[in-house]
Amino acid sequence: MDNHDLITRTADFVREKFLHEGSGHDWEHIRRVWQVARALARDTPQADPLITELGALLHDVADWKFHDGDEEVGPRASRAWLESLQAEESVIQAVEVIIREISFKGLGVATPMSSVEGELVQDADRLDAIGAIGVARAFAYGGHKGRPLHDSSVPPEVHESFESYKKNTAPTINHFYEKLLHLRERLHTPAAQRVAEQRHAFMELFLTQFLREWEGEDVR
Ligand code: ADP
Ligand code: NI
Repeated sequence: MDNHDLITRTADFVREKFLHEGSGHDWEHIRRVWQVARALARDTPQADPLITELGALLHDVADWKFHDGDEEVGPRASRAWLESLQAEESVIQAVEVIIREISFKGLGVATPMSSVEGELVQDADRLDAIGAIGVARAFAYGGHKGRPLHDSSVPPEVHESFESYKKNTAPTINHFYEKLLHLRERLHTPAAQRVAEQRHAFMELFLTQFLREWEGEDVR
């Protein structure tokens, strides 16, 4: 199978699997991450486009958030899929590593990517977690998990381990302070950092207005 077929077969597989997902981890999220990773790859000649595209398409194939916190289901599902297409072992291995490393694991936990393709996919995934879409996705996820929007009596936490980050059930507004507002500083590529500026500013504006309305300050 040539590279083009590997990518289109994988896109079809993932589209089918995620079409009816309602937690913000849907096909359209994957499609955006795929497009953005591809755009970032154009500025990064040392990145292998096949690995970047397969990594983007498969990055959420079986996210630990929906599999009892099991971090190995995603890498395993990606390997099984690419083996079924008889992809080269080096490609399977590279994509598996991206999926193992990509997730945010808590504010106090470093998440370095060991390949340049992984950096592009992680940047694309993180750009989709901020800005207007990031706001929408956070509340879609919170709704899916039955979390309150906000509770001023629950302070945001700095999670020092992936285990404590996974156990978190705080209100959705806390997620901005525990993750989303910090993603801008954790991007690898200058192109993604540029895009993040405006998206970050939008989130800050959103939070200011949200908290004003929450306290009724705009009504007084
Ligand atoms: P990551 O691998 O960094 O977790 P994902 O593509 O899996 O990235 O998407 C993570 C997105 O899921 C977040 O950006 C957010 O929209 C949502 N999410 C995850 N945890 C929470 C949470 N505790 N509250 C609200 N949204 C969350
Ligand atoms: Ni994702």
